[in-house]
Amino acid sequence: MSEFHFFNGQLQAEGVPLSAIADEFSTPTFVYSKASIVTAYENFQNAFSGHEHLICYSVKANSNLGILSLLASMGSGFDIVSGGELHRVITAGGDPAKVVFSGVGKQAWEIQLALESGIACFNLESASELHLLNELAVKLGKAAAISVRVNPDVDANTHPYIATGLKANKFGVSARDAMMIYRKAQQLPNIEIKGIDYHIGSQITDLSPLVDSLTSILVLVDKLEDMGIILSHIDVGGGIGILYKDEQTINIDDYASSILRILDKRKLRLLFEPGRFIVGNAGILLTRVITIKQNGEKKFIVVDAAMNDLIRPALYQSWQRIENVRQSDEPTQNCDIVGPVCESADFLARNRKLFVREGDLLAIFSSGAYGFVMSSNYNSRNRAAELIVSGTDVHCVRKRESIADQIRLESVLDTD
Ligand code: LLP
Repeated sequence: MSEFHFFNGQLQAEGVPLSAIADEFSTPTFVYSKASIVTAYENFQNAFSGHEHLICYSVKANSNLGILSLLASMGSGFDIVSGGELHRVITAGGDPAKVVFSGVGKQAWEIQLALESGIACFNLESASELHLLNELAVKLGKAAAISVRVNPDVDANTHPYIATGLKANKFGVSARDAMMIYRKAQQLPNIEIKGIDYHIGSQITDLSPLVDSLTSILVLVDKLEDMGIILSHIDVGGGIGILYKDEQTINIDDYASSILRILDKRKLRLLFEPGRFIVGNAGILLTRVITIKQNGEKKFIVVDAAMNDLIRPALYQSWQRIENVRQSDEPTQNCDIVGPVCESADFLARNRKLFVREGDLLAIFSSGAYGFVMSSNYNSRNRAAELIVSGTDVHCVRKRESIADQIRLESVLDTD
């Protein structure tokens, strides 16, 4: 049974009716299920239980301190892409020694913070980054563990904005350049070569690009070994797709058996950077219908959530399931679900069949990953509240913003 399910005609998050949540916390609100997160994490862990590995949850998917502290308590590592994310991990009680630092443009202050915190590995994206890292490591008297992010030039068959493993993308380096970076790294006193990494994209629903990229990376691993560069880990990135609608997606046990089969007898420790897989289906966005209007042929359901709260439909044309929180046998209507933002791109769903009345609550599913984290104050809208439900307990892990919060860092121009 999903952690979001109907009970007595009401949609619930675990043991709590969403209508009760709306009464207490208002809307729009992101509601996460603790049990869903725990189950996804454990399913991943169990799939690889026979091989030395570390899950480094990709913080960018959902960086709320409540979520990070939950994962830290289960022993998770973290994949970060900024100094801000490192601060969040440390504040949430995460172990810096289980942190890998990805990202194509790490700045000196971020590298310094990561060196001082003693993170596990820097996933390098260029030769100049290697030199900057070495310089800072020498200055601080630290050793920096590195891995080189290789771009395997494999098509992940996903939305072009979230594909990262093609030559045309800004991410990683070619196998040839990687060799050169490893050779340079061997000569730098404060650099310790640890691993290799790649990440070919997100919301991948087909195993074959993941299999193909691992196969091509292992060719490089073997070449490096011939050159006397022995790696201790391989970081295969994230990207496993979740179920938004009725797509065929990757089964975690099939993923594990394919990876382990290709890895063969190599002793490499496996690192993973899943984001969406852990939190994507663990969250819904709860919103209330403000008004219903008919423009010609079109019926618009105007809700109090908008593209500033959930930008995925506008940015990636993503389809996310929407349910009325109360069950009914009223007739359905064909409609677009839109927000109050002044843009025609402000839609959450198009051409849906829903029964709905003004004042109803709707739940937008699969909003746990890349939901709140991509939200903004566009149209001076306060960002939503975030809650974690566990059984019948509700924890507010982020209060709704106020207008005072929004303007706190601004000032009027003194024109005298
Ligand atoms: N590792 C690296 C280096 C990444 O760039 C990403 C995601 C991940 C791991 C985690 O990928 P996941 O397991 O979550 O697929 N905003 C987009 C997704 C952007 C993904 C960016 N990188 C969306 O809403 O679909």
